[in-house]
Amino acid sequence: MTRRNLLLGAVAAAGGAGAVTAGVATHENQTPAAEKLLLPLRDPLPAPYTHMMAVDRADKSHPSVVDAVRQLHRVVTRANTGTVQAWWALGGTAFPDNAPRPLGLHTMPAFPGDVLEPEGSHGDALVQVTGDSAEAVRNSVETVIKQATAWRTRWRIDGFRPENRLGNHKGLTWNPFRFTEGFGNPADHPDVVARAIVRPAPGQPPWAVGGSYQVVRVVRLATDLWEKDSVTEQERIIGRRQDGRWLDGTPAEKEPDFASDPQGSVTPLDSHVRLAAPDRRSPPPLVRRSYSYNRSIEDRGLIFCCFQRDLKAGFEAAQKRLQGEAMEKYILTSGGGYFFVPPPSEEWMAAAFGG
Ligand code: HEM
Repeated sequence: MTRRNLLLGAVAAAGGAGAVTAGVATHENQTPAAEKLLLPLRDPLPAPYTHMMAVDRADKSHPSVVDAVRQLHRVVTRANTGTVQAWWALGGTAFPDNAPRPLGLHTMPAFPGDVLEPEGSHGDALVQVTGDSAEAVRNSVETVIKQATAWRTRWRIDGFRPENRLGNHKGLTWNPFRFTEGFGNPADHPDVVARAIVRPAPGQPPWAVGGSYQVVRVVRLATDLWEKDSVTEQERIIGRRQDGRWLDGTPAEKEPDFASDPQGSVTPLDSHVRLAAPDRRSPPPLVRRSYSYNRSIEDRGLIFCCFQRDLKAGFEAAQKRLQGEAMEKYILTSGGGYFFVPPPSEEWMAAAFGG
């Protein structure tokens, strides 16, 4: 059976609820305090449940962009109750043509092997709600949908993090391939900021500084096919053991010595981690916050999600390196998009949209 047959299967309608919140900013040469970091990055351990909902402006002529964005901001901010965290992010299509936008914010392209379903991809904005209970998240999303009248839902998806836990200051979970996910993330606050928070740069509007680019990829995983392989084979495809230890025996939280294995006889050259992060001294500038999803037997997998200060240097560079990886035949990206989580102060809105 081909990967396409296995993975294309049913295109399940997304279900679930939505959510909201505000980001936080940093100024030049100033690291935001941990408690002030953008909401999605503040806690090293993401909440165990989420709902992501991409929305479009209901009527592009009315109300004005800035009014619609202010409404979304208000509604989502209000949804933050202490039991749920909610934030929102803008897609490139939210910006009027020729208006300045966060540098390089564009519609997510289809990478080789992707089959992006139009009804499950992109959007003028993304609303994400997270929380400790699926029910609280869902209720919160329903409220957002009711109140955000200037917006209509484009696609939505529920996510969860099995055995969500902190290990060595990193948020860890099991992904649907039964591998521990999260070890490659930064453990400390300055490293999160360095990888994920937008800095001043030529061509970058000053109001975007302190925000973060959020990439979402809905990746269907052929778990049945995966489980036909031995664990040893799976570990060679990932490049780590299921519990995160490296294939050469190095503990999960230490660095492996890839240089002493140039032919890839211990850790194959086409393994996921070897391609995702080949230079152990310079980790990819992105912070992952992924969730599992399960819409049906044929449609389950990973809502890959990462934040970065630069789309090209972060997600896109890693995605390009992963082309041809051994894991490729087990995965199919069917949706998602590129978004921008604005800095926390509201002044950026007037600066960005002139409202
Ligand atoms: C689609 C399904 C994917 C699965 C099942 C998966 C699984 C994993 C696993 C098990 C690890 C090792 C543990 C860890 O460090 O978290 C890992 C690491 C990593 N993955 Fe993925 N991943 C997927 C997609 C992606 C994508 C699309 C990217 C980026 C374009 C990516 C980037 C990374 C990075 C940067 C690391 C850390 C490598 C390190 O520092 O050693 N992954 N992934």
